[in-house]
Amino acid sequence: MDGNRTDQNIASRRGLPAWSYTSPELLDAEKELLFRRHWQLVCHVNDLPDAGDYLTMDMVGERALVIRGKDGRVRAFHNLCRHRGSRVVADDKGRCKSVLVCPFHGWVYNLDGTLRGASQPDSLPALDPDEWGLKPLETDLWNGFVFVRFKPGPQPPVSQIMARFDAELAPYGLTGLQPDGAGFWQTEVAANWKCIRDVDNEGYHVPMAHPGLHDLFGDNYYDEPFSEGTSRSFATFRPGPGRLWSVDAYKAILPEVAALDPDHNRGWLYIGMFPNLVFGIYPDSVIAYQEFPVENGRTIQRGACYRYPNEDRQMRLARYLSGRIDRITSKEDEQLIEWCWEASFSSGFDGVLLSDLEIGVKSYHDELRALFPVLNHREPEPGTLTARNAELLARGGED
Ligand code: FES
Ligand SMILES: [Fe+2]
Repeated sequence: MDGNRTDQNIASRRGLPAWSYTSPELLDAEKELLFRRHWQLVCHVNDLPDAGDYLTMDMVGERALVIRGKDGRVRAFHNLCRHRGSRVVADDKGRCKSVLVCPFHGWVYNLDGTLRGASQPDSLPALDPDEWGLKPLETDLWNGFVFVRFKPGPQPPVSQIMARFDAELAPYGLTGLQPDGAGFWQTEVAANWKCIRDVDNEGYHVPMAHPGLHDLFGDNYYDEPFSEGTSRSFATFRPGPGRLWSVDAYKAILPEVAALDPDHNRGWLYIGMFPNLVFGIYPDSVIAYQEFPVENGRTIQRGACYRYPNEDRQMRLARYLSGRIDRITSKEDEQLIEWCWEASFSSGFDGVLLSDLEIGVKSYHDELRALFPVLNHREPEPGTLTARNAELLARGGED
């Protein structure tokens, strides 16, 4: 191979530039375009079985409230009182009897978001219940999962984004999923959010960094690249007994699911949805996890686990064991994520070089570059990133 070809080959394997992990201006632009203007998972409708059940989610300065009305409909609103902006509900999850009462001055809202009345209404002009109701959020439902979008954005409906998985997912019956009872977990990671996504988007590190997961899959794990906003990874279990007791027990105990074909009965499927959501679809359970930037060096990870309806004791044990394998894997990833974040501050860091087995990272970076062509260039002068990116977009990404 001549030198030129090697250089070209290396150039095409570069990841995002180091500045993209530390730039506060890029983080602000990402919060606006990627997080506020892309669909965000809040919960599953079965998290809210009864009228008055609600769940909240905070993200990049936004607050969502999803609540089931007396008519059975699940609606999403800004968790923001129309009086002075207080949270209307303070908890992550709960059930209100028949109305929502703002904890600040006591304005009362109906479960459909309309204003029932201000407290001491004589102190205010008459307020129209619809005009002064909670502000609705754009909502979408996919297999029972509730998505919101804080501002209009470029994605089509979630069902369209995920359409290529319809046939594969149908046998799992995701609409019937039930929460595992533990609710949504949330942790904070000391890293830029993209460091988390980069570690999660490839399986090249599995044999080295995740002994449990490697014991489960062996070399059967593979990633398919991001394509039009989704990615797919799949791994069937390594035959024979596992070396670690939890893997061994999981493989031995996991019962066969009649609706699934042999590969899906003995395999874990991951579906990624741009920009920050992954579903792990297992024969015993379904997990969902996502990350939200707080600031550079602080990212919230949030997720939940769902069980299948009519789960028997054996399946319940299998779900416990798969959860255990997952928890250990996440712990192992945490350290790697933080080291990647620290690297962006090192004077010795020249950016990353991606192997063929990191196609998930490369193709995800390509999706980011399409929205932020500025990532193909040196860090813009302070105060110019948004204008520079808009200019590059207008010219098709080229100078
Ligand atoms: S802020 Fe809600 S009642 Fe005043
Ligand atoms: Fe990992």
